[in-house]
Amino acid sequence: MSKHVFSRGGDRLPVAARGSGAEIFDTDGRRYLDGSGGAIVVGIGHGVTEVADAIADQARSIAYVHGSAFTSGSLEAYAEELAPLLPMDDPHVYPVSGGSEAVETALKMARAFHLARGEDRHVIIGRAGAYHGNTRGALDVSGRPALRAPYLPWLGAAEHTTTPYEFRCPFPDSHPDACGPRHADALDALIEQTGPGQVAAFIAEPISGAALGGCVPPSDYWPAIAEVCRRHGVLLIADEVMTGFGRTGAWFGSDHFGLRPDLMVLAKGAASGYWPLGLAVASGHVHDELISGGFTHGFTYSHHVVGAAAGRAVLAHLREHDLVRASAERGDQLDTALRTKLGEHPSVGDIRGLGLLRGIELVADRRTAQPFARSERVIERVVVAGKERGVLLYPSTGCANGTDGDLVVLGPPLVVTPAQTEELASLTAAAIRDVLG
Ligand SMILES: Cc1ncc(COP(=O)(O)O)c(C=O)c1O
Repeated sequence: MSKHVFSRGGDRLPVAARGSGAEIFDTDGRRYLDGSGGAIVVGIGHGVTEVADAIADQARSIAYVHGSAFTSGSLEAYAEELAPLLPMDDPHVYPVSGGSEAVETALKMARAFHLARGEDRHVIIGRAGAYHGNTRGALDVSGRPALRAPYLPWLGAAEHTTTPYEFRCPFPDSHPDACGPRHADALDALIEQTGPGQVAAFIAEPISGAALGGCVPPSDYWPAIAEVCRRHGVLLIADEVMTGFGRTGAWFGSDHFGLRPDLMVLAKGAASGYWPLGLAVASGHVHDELISGGFTHGFTYSHHVVGAAAGRAVLAHLREHDLVRASAERGDQLDTALRTKLGEHPSVGDIRGLGLLRGIELVADRRTAQPFARSERVIERVVVAGKERGVLLYPSTGCANGTDGDLVVLGPPLVVTPAQTEELASLTAAAIRDVLG
């Protein structure tokens, strides 16, 4: 490995050579079953030549124009095809280069929306334990202490409320029958305390992804939260960077709850790793205010022509191969297989998720849900054991208390076959047993 690469994974990384479906091969010919699509990115699978061709065709005719000077056939067509699928009223798509950029864009849209209406609202409320990205604004609305710690002097403008986390419900006395309204009360109280005329938006994932490993909120959560936002004139931003484009067995995570956000944030599965594409989406009423009041924002690579061609080809592939339904079916299969192989394991506290977004929470004591101490680096060791066995797993730490907490997050490409789904569950269970017995 060149010493001139600022590596994220040390100096002994295998060299990726090619991928196909849910498999990756390195230059030594080793095969890896991709249990996580990298960071839960790859929806349509590796090696889809139609997408590569769409990118090449677009780049050959015109690769780049500035978004303020030109639109493109690819972008116009992509927005037309995507809009009817989005759980929003009259959506307007603002393409960027990834999830964090999309979050930053949505936060600014929320602020600009209120300014256009003559209201100086600026506070964004996120949730404890959430992850929305690593740029400063996105990190500020995130609630993961370990990621925030080095940068705390730069953070602090956002507020954080409670997160539905059924395995460790913050309202044990109401759990499981009435915790949704308790979360809504907590948000209501925080808005009142911050000053209702101050809060611009609330941002949350419909189903928690990387940070809490597929935590599905109770059915009374989203209706109660949406009502609080509406009552206070607070815009609701659904971060579907991870849950979008079929990952949870519906087109979007919001669809499971009938949620219709004012703003949406998408990335990852949008272009499935073939292009660094993110999307901030404004519903009609937000877009119209932004147009009338002005929206001071922009990136050199926003509205990218090739990115739109990639997103469009991925969307077509998802539809043609019915991959949203496949995600629901393979997800159920994976859940059953994981429960069969790991349901009784003394270190498995919880198996959760929807579709092909699944989390396995590892605990030191299953009865008390006591997490392992971070110093034991349990999940790091499980991921290494998995890689040695030829399966790629996505780790997450800190779910239990901000520091401790070990999660295996599974999110294979939606094209994973039934046999590979069984293999994924077996290899994951074996990797956990390698470390925890
Ligand atoms: C829910 C969510 N939002 C935002 C992001 C940030 O996306 P990116 O890493 O593309 O900047 C992520 C990344 O994992 C995410 O899971």
